[in-house]
Amino acid sequence: MGEIGPFRVMELLARARALEEAGRSIVHMEIGEPDFPTPEPVLAAAQAALAAGHTRYTPALGLPALREAIARFYRERDGAVVAPERIIITPGASGALLLALGVLLDPGQRVVMADPGYPCNRHFVRFLEGEAVGMPVDAQSGYQLTASQVESRWDDRTVAAMVASPANPTGTVITSEELTAIDRIVRRLGGRLIVDEIYHGLVYGAAASSVLASTDAAFVVNSFSKYFSMTGWRLGWLVAPDAYVPEVEKLAQNLFIAASTPAQYAALAAFLPETLAELEVRREIFRRRRDLLLPALRALGFRVDAAPQGAFYLYADCSRFTDDSRQFALRLLEEAGVAVTPGDDFGRHQPERYLRFAYTTSEAQLEEGIRRIAAFIGR
Ligand SMILES: Cc1ncc(COP(=O)(O)O)c(C=O)c1O
Repeated sequence: MGEIGPFRVMELLARARALEEAGRSIVHMEIGEPDFPTPEPVLAAAQAALAAGHTRYTPALGLPALREAIARFYRERDGAVVAPERIIITPGASGALLLALGVLLDPGQRVVMADPGYPCNRHFVRFLEGEAVGMPVDAQSGYQLTASQVESRWDDRTVAAMVASPANPTGTVITSEELTAIDRIVRRLGGRLIVDEIYHGLVYGAAASSVLASTDAAFVVNSFSKYFSMTGWRLGWLVAPDAYVPEVEKLAQNLFIAASTPAQYAALAAFLPETLAELEVRREIFRRRRDLLLPALRALGFRVDAAPQGAFYLYADCSRFTDDSRQFALRLLEEAGVAVTPGDDFGRHQPERYLRFAYTTSEAQLEEGIRRIAAFIGR
């Protein structure tokens, strides 16, 4: 447990809430979830499921109708043919990551991942008595792993590489050429690629189709949390290579029995045309927010060398103002009433230079945040 770190942003969030309770106004740019409610058709489907008494366990791999709906979604969105039998419904992407790493890792084995990256990944690996190998990534590769980096760090204890695209905390998208190259190298080395596609759908301009369109060998993680605005429903999925499905099933039965039944029924409505139309409206709102925040931060002197193309994050170099982003974030909160996440939640590669800004709040709030930051840094 000594090596499992907490989510440090939670302390900052708690302090922000305490300040709000004491009457201060806080602009929240630290929160990693959409500010939109769950779409109406999903809520209606959940209410209908509850009224119909759908409150007992589903099979461990999930409701067959939901697994089929996800397979259809891959076919229609990504042109990828994915057998529903390979799709496992999980408690969030978190459950999917745990299952994928659980079937792949033995104690002492290694997983290569980008640093900075989503912090829970290294803790999942540690929990399974494995070793997370954080590869320093920077703007040059769009804060994404490269195939040559993966190859250079691979050794006989390495069993997997993890990629997230769009990524948290940088919002960057890996090119399909690089992703295919990583998949090829990992397979040649006898390992497996895990691709976290939780921010799929939230992409602005760049092309980002699922890696499943080009390979059946990767583990793919996804969720209803972000694009579908369903964080609190705790529902996601894993696509596993055929040969691993029985192992994944065994682990799912033991770890959580099944994902939430009412949430699974609700999610059947996530793929209805009217839901997807609403989600596209939201995507456009996120894009507008990014287009507001990115130039405004650059104009203030923050450096964002690799423009974010997706998710709802922006990872900004604040070294012009401080050599300690954590202290800077604390002061920004206390003195200016703006909450952002310091880099030290996301890894060990130069965290003191970076802040993560989440545009999960209205344009008016973002503009207010920018005004406060400008005043704070004296511009
Ligand atoms: C990259 C990434 N993967 C996985 C998760 C976990 O999401 P879920 O709510 O689906 O468990 C998050 C949540 O922030 C994330 O950013």
